[in-house]
Amino acid sequence: MSDGSISVLVVDDEEPIRNALKKYLTQQGYEVTTAGSGDEAIKVLRRQKIGCMLLDVRMPGRSGIDLVPQIMELEPSIAILMLTAVNDATTAALCMQRGAMDYLTKPIDLSDLSRAILRAIRRRDSLLEQQHLSQWLKEEVATRTAELRREREKLERLSVATLEALVNALEAKDAFIRGHSTRVADLGAMIAAEMGLTDERVEAVRMAGRLHDIGKIGVREEILSKQGPLTSDEYEQVKQHVVVGSQILAPLTHLGEIIGFVRSHHERWDGQGYPDKLKGETIPAGARILGAAEIYDALTTARPYQEKMPPDAAVERMRDLSGNALDPAVFAALEAAVKRRQTLVFLDDRT
Ligand SMILES: [Fe+2]
Repeated sequence: MSDGSISVLVVDDEEPIRNALKKYLTQQGYEVTTAGSGDEAIKVLRRQKIGCMLLDVRMPGRSGIDLVPQIMELEPSIAILMLTAVNDATTAALCMQRGAMDYLTKPIDLSDLSRAILRAIRRRDSLLEQQHLSQWLKEEVATRTAELRREREKLERLSVATLEALVNALEAKDAFIRGHSTRVADLGAMIAAEMGLTDERVEAVRMAGRLHDIGKIGVREEILSKQGPLTSDEYEQVKQHVVVGSQILAPLTHLGEIIGFVRSHHERWDGQGYPDKLKGETIPAGARILGAAEIYDALTTARPYQEKMPPDAAVERMRDLSGNALDPAVFAALEAAVKRRQTLVFLDDRT
């Protein structure tokens, strides 16, 4: 008989009731254990697996109601049926609230008892199944979300790394600009930190620095490497690199404000820059910083038409640009950053 596998624990302080229930339920094919008090019931539960419990509400010592939460903790899959001497709706409701499945009123109609036990066990089973399912679902959603996030981050890193490789390839062709983007990125980050920007924005400036000239991919090579002055037509083409760059980066939405830094790094504080003629603080701070870092890098590296300048001389040359081409606050931070770096280099040289 399938019911034979169900073990029932009868908890009642009245021995005649315990015995009568045990006898009847054993005849019905249940495996029956009895306990005369709450404490005894807990001992049984610690010892053996119980599928269903008939629990008297009123017992000397701890009442059945108080026992329910402890029992549920010990054996979450148990189906508890309360036995109550009076038809007490409040007691019944309290028991159900705390996890009991059903209640039966004494004197117990034995023909109802088997049905009530089966019903309680079935309800308990479906409740547990639901709990497992929602738990599984929750874990599954969390796992998938984490997987997706990892995948997305990997793709994001990959796409930026690919673009950086493109910039390196571009710069490698020309000895005069080799390493330019990395230097602009590092100095830009130093200026940003000097200005008190958050770590996150400092890193955004650094990444924008590495990518700021990516649009030069769209400019013809003979123009980029031309020795001597550009014609106005050629200059117009060079100016396009900021627009092309921001267009290349536009699909990478995770780059956020970095795209604007790239587009606006040739704007001027006085509104005479390109491509949008932005003025003053309408130019994104990262773009103002990169613009200054780029000028500094151009002055301090050798070009076909120019000797490289020492840091102090480059800063002095740029002082004239502060307030017209350059944001004075950015220039001040650049000056401080260059000094700080010279001190670091000096200390490095001594060791
Ligand atoms: Fe540029």
